Parts: sequence; C-alpha cells; structure tokens
Amino acid sequence: MAKSSLNVAVIGATGAVGDVFLRVAAERNFPFSSLKLLATARSAGKTLRYKDQEIVVEETSVEALKGADLVFCSATSAASREYAPIITKMGGVMIDDGSAFRMQANVPLVIPEVNGDDLEWHEGIISIPNCTTTPLAMALHAMRQVAPLRRVTVATYQATSGTGAAAVEELKSQLGAFGRGEPIPAASVYPHQIAMNVLPQVDVFGEDGYTAEEAKMRNETRKILHIDGLPFSATCARVPTVLGHAEAVHVEFEKDAPLDDIREALRNQPGLEIMDDPANSVYPMPLNTAGDDRAFVGRLRKDESTDHGIAFWCVTDNLRKGAATNAIQIAEELIRRGKI
Ligand code: A2P
Repeated sequence: MAKSSLNVAVIGATGAVGDVFLRVAAERNFPFSSLKLLATARSAGKTLRYKDQEIVVEETSVEALKGADLVFCSATSAASREYAPIITKMGGVMIDDGSAFRMQANVPLVIPEVNGDDLEWHEGIISIPNCTTTPLAMALHAMRQVAPLRRVTVATYQATSGTGAAAVEELKSQLGAFGRGEPIPAASVYPHQIAMNVLPQVDVFGEDGYTAEEAKMRNETRKILHIDGLPFSATCARVPTVLGHAEAVHVEFEKDAPLDDIREALRNQPGLEIMDDPANSVYPMPLNTAGDDRAFVGRLRKDESTDHGIAFWCVTDNLRKGAATNAIQIAEELIRRGKI
C-alpha cells in the first residue's frame, strides 16, 4: 500500500547535508507523519529546528530506526553499510547519500529528472549520485537528445562543504588566521592547507592514478545514463570555497550537435537552467547559484579542437541538488509512483 505521509528518520542530521535537508524538506512541505533526527552519541541531546519545532537529536540505533518508513542517510559509508540491512529488514526504504551502494546492481542510482524510472525496481535502498555527478549527468542527458555522446572530459572545482562540516571549519580557521596575519593552522581534514590553495586530490588515489572521486564520476554517469563504457575522464580539484561545485566540461558527440539545438535541449531539461550571457559576464558561479535547487549551465561554446565537440561550464549548490534536494525529490517521486 503506498503511503502519502511517512515516518522518516534522518541519519547524519547534524552534518552539513543534514542541515540543508531539514531546510529543503520544510520549503517543500515534505509529508512527514513523524521525523526523527539521528547522529552519533556525540550529538545525542542536541536540538535542531524543523519549521517551528525543536527536535532532540538521538543516537542512531536499531531501536531509533524502528517504525521508519523512510530513512535518509548522509553520514559515513560505514554507517550506511551498518544500517541499510537493518532498515530494509524492518520494511523501511533507505535513500543513501553515500557511495556505499551506488554501484551495486540492485540499487538504483537516481536523479528523478533523468532516470526516475529506475525507482521502479528498487529493493529498499536507493542511492543518490555524488554531488559532482548530478549536474553533469543532467546536462549530458539533455544533450544526448541532440546527438549520441562519444566522449566526456571534465575538470571540477569543488567546495569544502562537500567534505563535511569539519572541512568548512578548517577553511574558515585558516582564512581567519591568514586575514589576521597569524600563522595558519595545520591541515587536519585535508592532506594540505586548503586556504589560498587548490588541491588536485578529492578522495584517495587508485592504482590507475585517478582518485576515487574521479572514478565515481565516471562510473555513476555511465550507470545513470545507462551507457556502459562511455569514454570518460575526470580531474577533480578541491578549491577554497564553502558552497557550490563548478565543472568545466568537454563533450564529443557521434555527429554534429548544433549549439542552438543543444541550448534548446538544455532549456527542455527539468531542473536545469541556462545562465549564459558572456558579453555581460553572466555565467553561473558558486556565489550566484548558492541556495538554488537547480543545476546551472553557462559558457556554452563549440569545442573547435575536435569534430562535433562542445564545451561548457556548470555550477550546482552541492548540498542542495548535489545532495539534500535530490534525496527529497527521490522520496517525492517514490510517493508519486506508489513505490513506498
Ligand atoms: P555527529 O555530528 O554526531 O558526528 P558531515 O558530513 O558534515 O561531517 O556530517 C556527518 C554526519 O554524519 C553528522 O551528523 C555525524 O554525526 C553523522 N555520523 C557520522 N558517523 C555516524 C555513525 N556512525 N552513525 C550515525 N551518524 C553518523
């Protein structure tokens, strides 16, 4: 029986994504019957605000998850792995922000505006894509309506909030010290100082020289678009901003893809917005897209270095469409489809 009002638990409610999750859920009037906010024992007893309610945070446990129809999880991969079997065994559905299950064959990896149909075959766990994958897959999905994709290369410029609240604090304390002319505190979250720097490393390196983040972008894009083996190469960098991931993308198509047709396809893509008036220096940036639920594309141009190529720039609020908003949209879509 499909439900239209749900008992919901949020694992990781005190984190960077959890905070935005509560704001987005309130804005969208998500139909909660009840709402439990969960984190580690460290946060138990803290209160968080949802609309006009103060809700006491509880430690995540089997007991706390009992009766949950839907659990949003944005904590650690270990927490996702620990709680997923417990949640699904008790009949709940878990929407997971982490990477633990994204590539598992029986777990849909979903952007509702791109592959919402994949929700039809969920078995209790649904993953949301990595925050850099989501806007890219949305733009590529729109563009492939014009011509089949042949090859994708991308470089990212990722904000510290993608690493979590502790990383944002590390950037702030380093910037504060720099501004006061004091010695800059040593890095603890990142391998190097992030203030006044750019790190060509997001996550750990694999044997092929790519980082886990770069591999995630490649594998997740292929899974979401249902294009096994799509030629794809990413370089992911961490930059000293707080909110909003930017990406420089080059796409080659199998045949000519006129820019006007690409623009038209992007305009028709739900959840995506073109911001592209270079003559007036109008393009998406972290500062003019923060707090927005859409993915933004600009700097659209022909890539003259190859046949049938285009280049573009895209920016997304990584905590909204890159995480919390996409998770809530998945839940809304599950309700709409009667899949919960
Ligand atoms: P806590 O605040 O109690 O440490 P961020 O991504 O900003 O670092 O936040 C991570 C979130 O995940 C926090 O809410 C954190 O809780 C929560 N968390 C981390 N590990 C676990 C775990 N093992 N079980 C439940 N929640 C966890």
